Parts: sequence; C-alpha cells; structure tokens
Amino acid sequence: MSWDRFVKLFHWSLATGIVANYFFLEEGDQPHEWLGYLLCGLVVARLIWGFYGPATAQFSSFLARPAVAMREIRSLNTAHELPNTHTAAGGYQLVLVMFLVLGLGITGWIHDLDAFWGEDWPADLHEYMANALIILAGVHVLAVGWMQLGLNMPIIQRMWFSRR
Ligand code: HEM
Ligand code: HEM
Repeated sequence: MSWDRFVKLFHWSLATGIVANYFFLEEGDQPHEWLGYLLCGLVVARLIWGFYGPATAQFSSFLARPAVAMREIRSLNTAHELPNTHTAAGGYQLVLVMFLVLGLGITGWIHDLDAFWGEDWPADLHEYMANALIILAGVHVLAVGWMQLGLNMPIIQRMWFSRR
C-alpha cells in the first residue's frame, strides 16, 4: 500500500515545519508564530481526514488497545508484514504529535495574552511540549530507520511520493 496524497503532504510539511520552528526560526518571532499556527491548521485537517478520509487514514482502522502496541514493539526484532494502515504504535505516535502541536499553538497564543502577562507557566509549558515533540520525532525516525534499514521492511516508500 501507499499513503494517500494528503497524508504524505501532511507528513512532510509537518516534519519540515517542526524542524524549522524548533531549530531555525527565531523563538516567538512573527514567522515562528505563523508557521506554528499553520501546523495547527494542518493537524485540524488531519483530524477531519481521520474520520472522513480514505479507510487507510481513518483512526478507526489503526487505533487499538495499548497491549496491541506493546506486542508490536516487542516484535520489532524481526522483519514482518506491515499492515495496510498504521501500526497501533504508529497510531499512538500520530495522536501524541497532534496533541503536542495543538498544545504548542494554545500555549504560544496564551503567552501573548494580556491576561497572562507576568506568568511564566505558558512559556515553560510551551518549551516542555516542544522538547517532548522533538524527542518523540527522534524516536519515530529511529524506529522507521530500523525497520527500513535494519529489517529491510519497505516502510519509507509508503510515505514517499513516487508512483509504484
Ligand atoms: C510546532 C509548533 C511550535 C514549535 C515546535 C515551537 C517551539 C518553540 C521553542 C523550542 C521555543 C523556545 C522555548 C524556550 O527555550 O524558552 C519557543 C518559544 C516561543 N514560541 Fe513556539 N513553537 C511552536 C509554535 C508556536 C506558536 C503557534 C506560537 C504562537 C504564538 C508560538 C509562540 C512562541 C513564543 C511567544 C515563544 C517565546 C517564549 C518565551 O518568551 O520564552 N510558538 N517555541
Ligand atoms: C519532525 C519529524 C517528523 C515528525 C513530527 C513525523 C511525524 C509523523 C506522523 C504524525 C506520522 C503519521 C502520519 C499520518 O498518519 O498522518 C508519521 C508517519 C511516518 N513517518 Fe514520520 N515524522 C517525522 C519525520 C520522519 C522522517 C525523517 C521519516 C523518514 C525517514 C519519517 C517516516 C515516516 C513513515 C515511513 C511513516 C508512515 C509509517 C507507516 O507506514 O505506518 N518521518 N510521521
């Protein structure tokens, strides 16, 4: 299988935007804020896609009990057939990424409100969430890299734009 075009576009825009906002754009400047809101917009679109998009992209096709995700993680020592959608563990990763990006939008917005002037917690929470997001992305890239290169499972092709 191959992911639909919206999921691919969502994935690579999100990954590029997060890296740009974390490592390259000046913290709290206008481009940082607008890019952050744009990423929140992408997440809202992905939420809608998760209910009304194609079957492979729907939350109901891959969200499962945590025990299923644990079993998948334990089976990562050998190559195996990929499901026709995300694994349950990949599904949890998607939910966590969406939660953190929306949380960054909300804490970034709150930070600028007069009502929270002088409060440190919105900026602190923003920083914790940004760090958690980068750590999660790092674990994700390691897991995908291990499956692709260590186990020879063709997972990156599914997320890339080439026609097969
Ligand atoms: C994916 C989205 C985002 C990421 C990864 C991100 C990441 C970061 C990081 C790493 C910092 C520096 C934190 C520190 O060390 O103190 C920061 C600061 C900041 N961000 Fe974001 N951010 C995102 C979205 C947003 C949005 C949507 C806003 C909207 C207003 C925003 C507003 C700010 C502000 C005002 C600061 C400065 C906070 C301070 O004064 O310490 N960010 N962001
Ligand atoms: C900041 C960096 C990244 C973030 C935040 C991120 C986030 C995500 C998210 C949220 C999904 C689920 C997509 C959806 O269902 O809409 C996903 C899937 C995926 N990502 Fe990433 N990603 C990042 C970087 C990368 C990189 C660098 C690679 C390639 C080496 C990669 C490979 C994949 C693959 C192959 C999938 C699909 C897995 C499957 O078929 O179930 N990601 N990623």
